Amino acid sequence: ADQEVQRASTYAPVNIAVIKYWGKRDTKLNLPTNSSLSVTLSQDDLRTHTTATCSSSYKSDTLTLNGSDQDIAGARTQACLRELRALRKEIEAKDSHVPKLSEMALKIVSENNFPTAAGLASSAAGFAALVRAIANLYQLPATPTVLSRIARQGSGSACRSLFGGYVGWNQGELDDGSDSVAYEVAPASHWPGMRALILVASAEKKDVSSTAGMQQTVASSALFQHRAENVVPKRMEAMEAAIKDRNFEAFAALTTKDSNNFHATCLDTDPPIFYMNDTSRAAVRMCETINQVAGRQICAYTFDAGPNAVVYYLAEDEGRVAGAFKSMLGDLTGWTEGVKATDVSAGMEH
Ligand code: PMV
Repeated sequence: ADQEVQRASTYAPVNIAVIKYWGKRDTKLNLPTNSSLSVTLSQDDLRTHTTATCSSSYKSDTLTLNGSDQDIAGARTQACLRELRALRKEIEAKDSHVPKLSEMALKIVSENNFPTAAGLASSAAGFAALVRAIANLYQLPATPTVLSRIARQGSGSACRSLFGGYVGWNQGELDDGSDSVAYEVAPASHWPGMRALILVASAEKKDVSSTAGMQQTVASSALFQHRAENVVPKRMEAMEAAIKDRNFEAFAALTTKDSNNFHATCLDTDPPIFYMNDTSRAAVRMCETINQVAGRQICAYTFDAGPNAVVYYLAEDEGRVAGAFKSMLGDLTGWTEGVKATDVSAGMEH
């Protein structure tokens, strides 16, 4: 029985922020300098699938992503494993009949069905899946909130992938990070028409990792300080209200403004960081044209730490937004991987 292999699998969705997380006040715990808010996308389109197994026959912890070995010794991954093992140990301490899984090595196998580290929130889905799979394997009674606290230490944005629909991440105040967790703003069902168009300009890995980019921004941008202190707190409130009221025009205006504000802080650093490129800017102009023709804001673009665009719109405007992008794509050079339309998702099963 000692050699038995225990196993648990899960899918985790990506989330794309509409109020961006950018800047850490604690790099070890991934504590942010501002709160953020995202939308969880359908697991049918972009997701990580992770299987966690453990056995007393395994020699050491291992992690593979899309078939290739990953460095599991990194501090972020180690923090997640340590926290999950500590919670398992609590269960084992209470009942001597419970197998001591916390003492066995883990084998973690992950697959992404989309480009990794290309600014499409791959680390968010990745760490959310890793944490959830191990929590299932260990049969932890942990809530999504507790798991979000753990996943945050893997990758900040991962904490938001533990919830479906519209998700906030409270920056928190405490030094130990215990209050820096994700929360549900509204379930996916609250606003059924919301859709996202994913435009992949490049499936290449980004030049400047989000960790390095944030560090540089915090160290050298005065605009960043203004963003964190004065701009984002008001936007968080306005965005939550826009979502509660299902006010797409307000949602769209805040989304595009916040993306541009975040990329402006990147430009304001020493040396400047350019995540958006000419292809990205063509998507911005396309959105503006679509909105002008419609006479109101029916689509909203946002860019993470890379050139790929995500465009939010309502299903009733599918033809005018997704249709326009699809038919124009041939004229917009640089979109290597094409366009994909996706829904907001209810998130993982808990
Ligand atoms: O979770 P990280 O460390 O990969 O940072 C993600 C940062 C952005 O994607 C640019 C913004 C966000 O809120 O997701």
